[in-house]
Amino acid sequence: MIIAIDGPAASGKGNIARQLGGHFGYPHLDTGALYRAVGLAMLQENRNIDDSDAAAKVAENLPLELLDAAEIRTAEVGEAASKVAVHAAVRKALRGFQERFAGQSPGAVLDGRDIGTVICPHADVKLFITATVEIRATRRHKELLARGERIIYARVLADLKVRDQRDATRKEGPLRPADDAFQIDTSDLDIEAAVAAALTFITSQRT
Ligand code: CDP
Repeated sequence: MIIAIDGPAASGKGNIARQLGGHFGYPHLDTGALYRAVGLAMLQENRNIDDSDAAAKVAENLPLELLDAAEIRTAEVGEAASKVAVHAAVRKALRGFQERFAGQSPGAVLDGRDIGTVICPHADVKLFITATVEIRATRRHKELLARGERIIYARVLADLKVRDQRDATRKEGPLRPADDAFQIDTSDLDIEAAVAAALTFITSQRT
């Protein structure tokens, strides 16, 4: 069973994806980490983030060791990730890795922006996780402070708005719910309630 989870930044999709993976015993891929790794490598190599060819080359030789690196979680790398994610050649280069991950038996959970629409259009379950931008900014601000980053709430809110807009309006793999996605608004839900809503939906689909 493939579970595809999409949604904007800090909507809770990663947390829900991890918990569903644990529940079903499936591996989980945070596809945002792939774009973040490419963004970080571009920053480290002092490359122009808008250089599509350079970014595609990095994506083709994906720096796997960066996927678990704490440095990919900064606000700066999030911004860089969304900029490299605009390039069609980068998205193409990262596609095979995601498709192979999704093809694992007996199942897999992937979260991102275009999983239900582009990477796994035939996923058994598609979820689209949302929350108001203010609530998402509050969550992300807390996370960044906990990681030791010095950043004010207003900056996080402004960055998320710019990133949402960029992610939703790009030509390739824009952030949008698949037609058959089940939407969960986590604005007033804690993680347990959000996972419970997802599980109720998945159970109803499979019976
Ligand atoms: O953690 P957060 O929710 O802030 O974002 P992320 O999932 O780590 O993704 C970082 C950036 O990568 C996003 O803003 C997207 O531009 C891009 N991304 C994408 O284009 N497609 C995906 N499947 C996942 C992430």
